[in-house]
Amino acid sequence: MTEAATMILFGATGDLAKRKLFPALYSLFQENQLPQQFAVVGVGRRTLSREAFQTHVKSSIESFARYSVNEKWPDFISRFYYVSLDIQELGDYQTLLHTIKTVEHDYSIPQNRLFYLAIAPELFEPVTFHLQQSGILRQRGWKRVVIEKPFGHDLPSAEALNKEISQVFTEEEIYRIDHYLGKEMVQNIEVIRFANTLFEPVWNNQYISNVQITSSEVVGVEGRAGYYDQAGALRDMVQNHMLQMMTMVAMEPPSRLKPEAVRDEKVKVLRSIRRLHQADEIARHVVRGQYVAGEINGEVMKGYREEEKVNPNSQTETFVALKFHIDNFRWAGVPFYIRTGKRLAKKATEVIIQFKQLPPLYFNQSGQLDPNVLVIRIYPENGLHLKLNLRQPDNMDKIAPVSMSFTQNGSPGFHSPEAYERLVKDCIEGNSTYFTRWDEVALAWKIVDPIVQAFETGEVPLYTYKAGSWGPAEADQLVAQEGLKWWPVL
Ligand code: BG6
Repeated sequence: MTEAATMILFGATGDLAKRKLFPALYSLFQENQLPQQFAVVGVGRRTLSREAFQTHVKSSIESFARYSVNEKWPDFISRFYYVSLDIQELGDYQTLLHTIKTVEHDYSIPQNRLFYLAIAPELFEPVTFHLQQSGILRQRGWKRVVIEKPFGHDLPSAEALNKEISQVFTEEEIYRIDHYLGKEMVQNIEVIRFANTLFEPVWNNQYISNVQITSSEVVGVEGRAGYYDQAGALRDMVQNHMLQMMTMVAMEPPSRLKPEAVRDEKVKVLRSIRRLHQADEIARHVVRGQYVAGEINGEVMKGYREEEKVNPNSQTETFVALKFHIDNFRWAGVPFYIRTGKRLAKKATEVIIQFKQLPPLYFNQSGQLDPNVLVIRIYPENGLHLKLNLRQPDNMDKIAPVSMSFTQNGSPGFHSPEAYERLVKDCIEGNSTYFTRWDEVALAWKIVDPIVQAFETGEVPLYTYKAGSWGPAEADQLVAQEGLKWWPVL
């Protein structure tokens, strides 16, 4: 059961709070998944009255929540408070402490404090420092801090940030968000593997030919060019979401389904990923691209360099495809392909497991059969599709692929709670399984940093691709080298 707590939300007037966090809290409240004793103290730079803040929360719910404003609304919104604060001003933190204590008193909350930092990463450090200085962290209950990505922009910056935060919070108290880990089907990967006799015995290099993980987006930089042009697809998506999905696919069965046991296994995968160091090796394993103007769904999209606030000579990649190897007993010899990009043909996230072919006998004498393929569909629907071979009913000599499909959203009455609902609930409950531990973050940067450097020195060519395509043709070559193809997303 969830414990009584106060959420102190920094960035309460920002975009993330509006689009994701308030709606997530509201859904949890509607489903009686929040503790009875629960309140939110919103913290923002703007001067706002409590009423104005509550109106702001209401407009977020009206625009983005799954539940409408109903009879539960007055109880929900009465739990929201607001403190305006200058992040560098210690005195403002005293006002914050006063409000937190009032709320704890009014709701009989035993000083369990959850600090949610939905703010720019450069503010993490001053906020944690002032929280410490002001005495807000001298609570009698528990304290936790939730941090949004990006966690640093390379290993040294991530280490510096971690060092600062660790002076104030222990590793167990730090919840680093990777919202992909909150997605239903990403969490289901371990269930597919460890709850199905059909899959676990064949989940290895004896039976699996390759794994393909795609996260394609139709959107461009969405007004975030200032950040994105510095980051690029590799840092923005691969260092976190893509590698996290890969660890879920590749990890060994954990000793138990507890946060540390699961994260230990994920760390082992990251450690076993073959590091790419030499420029020529990186160029053979990585394809990067940048979109130029093109058409998506009948709409003409401008090229990346024409986007507002993007450097017209930008060398930033908006697409990246990589081939990784995991050098352990289970996965030796199985390529893991990852690709992600903006302004692609479709928004989709899929993990595809391609199985090896059977011997060239009977129906497969010339290797003509399609391989068995398992598609774990993470977006747009939660689904599982298994491609098998069967005799074609109207032509007894022909074997053709058929697909067994399960789609969760299609089941009547079922809803798929947003990733943030799960993650917010988990951090209130103190379950850190689906949050990234420091050693995972550090290892992911160690994998990505040398590739970023090769990009920056121009050792990996930057190809172009048309908006609305599936990325540069060279990405197809990456898989074709092994006689493979990207499975088209469904
Ligand atoms: C974010 C990236 O972490 O993930 C964005 O910063 C990206 O650039 C987003 O658009 C994708 O998330 P989702 O859940 O829409 O696939």
